[in-house]
Amino acid sequence: MCGIVGYLGNSVAQDALIDGLRRLEYRGYDSAGAAFHDGNAFSLARETGRVENLASTLRESNPTSTLGIAHTRWATHGAVTVSNTHPHLSHDGKIALVHNGVIENYGPLKRILEGKGIEFSSETDSEVLSNLIAYHYARLEGEEEQFAQALREALSQCRGAYGIAVLCVDEPGFLLGARRGSPLVVGLGDGETFLASDASAFVGRVRDAVYLKDGEIALLREDGFRIITMQGEDAQAVSQPIDQTVEDVEMGDFDSFMEKEIFEQPVALENTLRGRFGDDGTTAKLGGLEGHEDELRRLNRIVFVACGTARHSCMVGEYLIERLARVPVEVEHASEFRYRNSPKAGHTLVIAVSQSGETLDTLEAVREARTKGLLTIGITNGVGSSLARETDGGVYQRVGAEIGVASTKAFTSQVALCAMLGLALGRMRELSPIQGREIAEALQNLPENVASILQRGETLRELAHKYSEAEHLLFLGRQDLYPVALEGALKLKEISYAHAEGYPAAELKHGPIALINPECPSIFLVEEGELGAKTIANMQEVKARSGPVLAIVPEGVEVPDGAADDVFRVPAVHEVVRPIVATIPLQLFAYHFARIRSLDVDKPRNLAKSVTVE
Ligand code: M6R
Repeated sequence: MCGIVGYLGNSVAQDALIDGLRRLEYRGYDSAGAAFHDGNAFSLARETGRVENLASTLRESNPTSTLGIAHTRWATHGAVTVSNTHPHLSHDGKIALVHNGVIENYGPLKRILEGKGIEFSSETDSEVLSNLIAYHYARLEGEEEQFAQALREALSQCRGAYGIAVLCVDEPGFLLGARRGSPLVVGLGDGETFLASDASAFVGRVRDAVYLKDGEIALLREDGFRIITMQGEDAQAVSQPIDQTVEDVEMGDFDSFMEKEIFEQPVALENTLRGRFGDDGTTAKLGGLEGHEDELRRLNRIVFVACGTARHSCMVGEYLIERLARVPVEVEHASEFRYRNSPKAGHTLVIAVSQSGETLDTLEAVREARTKGLLTIGITNGVGSSLARETDGGVYQRVGAEIGVASTKAFTSQVALCAMLGLALGRMRELSPIQGREIAEALQNLPENVASILQRGETLRELAHKYSEAEHLLFLGRQDLYPVALEGALKLKEISYAHAEGYPAAELKHGPIALINPECPSIFLVEEGELGAKTIANMQEVKARSGPVLAIVPEGVEVPDGAADDVFRVPAVHEVVRPIVATIPLQLFAYHFARIRSLDVDKPRNLAKSVTVE
């Protein structure tokens, strides 16, 4: 939620800030603003709407300052207005601040500050923080490191989550940042230093980055930087090369990041799987689980925690892991798990899945599990993310930056990793080497199968066109294709605003069938074998009630005349990779469906990529 960038260097700050905001716009796009240090005051530019609005304002005012901070907002406290847009200046004009997160106790703090005669000009929690820093800055006049101390004092009074970048008018050579709960990374360039919510903001300008830990403060100066703790002690600053490239974070020839990321899936899956099969080709070896083999052999329960699309991948994982490893699996909404007093039964492994690794509910669920003494594993695409740091072990997805708000390549990679985990756990139990080899081969063939579906993207565009006037759609599938149906419905609704629901196919008769009419299409995911025949019977029930049916069906499965209006064929594959193969047409269907409606699929209404608030 919200993207922040700070720049201190020898070039004009506005270019670096606007480029950074464009790259961070996936985090929020309600409004955008920037503040520049102009010698003895700040100049401020703030606009509602997209970063482009701010860019055009800055093109006119053309600030030449080399020190500035900027923000792209996903509104939490206060409506989408200019006055609620960051940066927020303190009442005395001394402090400028951008903030990602939520200051939970901003109400009482605001009342204290109002009691001291301080007036506020926005409804945000963030303005409280800029005024609190200014208050301490004035109080600490004459003290050593006055600015850093004022920041530490102010933060010690705040509850909640923050990633912030702060400037002080009296300290022209300083840019300060701090994090708790919301990500913040320092970019170390040649004669320039950045602060940002995510390294993508400065990819191409900077090679190395320092990922701040919770409770750390970054003090950036023209001649270097220091990381300190909230207590003011020096902390270790470990710099690492940035693992993203400019191509990763830019759209190239594609129409949107979502389209780019859908088409990247064959390569993304190859990267997820590369080097992760045992030498004899019958099992999976996931480096991040090394050292936990005894616990993995002993475990008799797995609890997945995740949100949104990531949770759907876990639901597929439930079917796969139970089938391959015979270990009971439960899937929890992370937001529910964190407040539940779930019993600590047997040897439980908690697996948290999150593309960003920064979703607050998922992180809190992990923290709760660790408080209960449970072993936690993270599956994430976020290198150096909070999830990667806060779990006992983990597996990186390695799919490159996912920028489109609608998750696509991250989902298929998460499902592939669940299958890998099922394979590894299965081989520690009853799965035979022959079964293991079949599964490993099916996974290795997956990129090719996915590519063959993508080549037929045009057919899916035509199908999306045919159904694009529908305002209500049902997605139906059985077993591991049920969570795929949920994911298909989520993809469609989040980017097209049509109402879509996913159900187990047989559940149709228990209620949703009442929705069927000629305006409500049903999209069925059909598997091979006996269950597939039952799903086809469900399709016929819909057709008998004049409901349009689009069926996604493996090659070789016969669909009786009249059971579907349209059939899209997918390769017949091993059941372990079936959910991934079935997902691809649904992603493309949703993508075209929304594009036909002229919608911006990368920035859907009200959403943000990474949900770092409750
Ligand atoms: O970064 P995470 O995987 O933890 O994000 C979880 C959800 O917020 C995310 O999957 C969301 O549902 C997407 N918009 C779905 O496309």
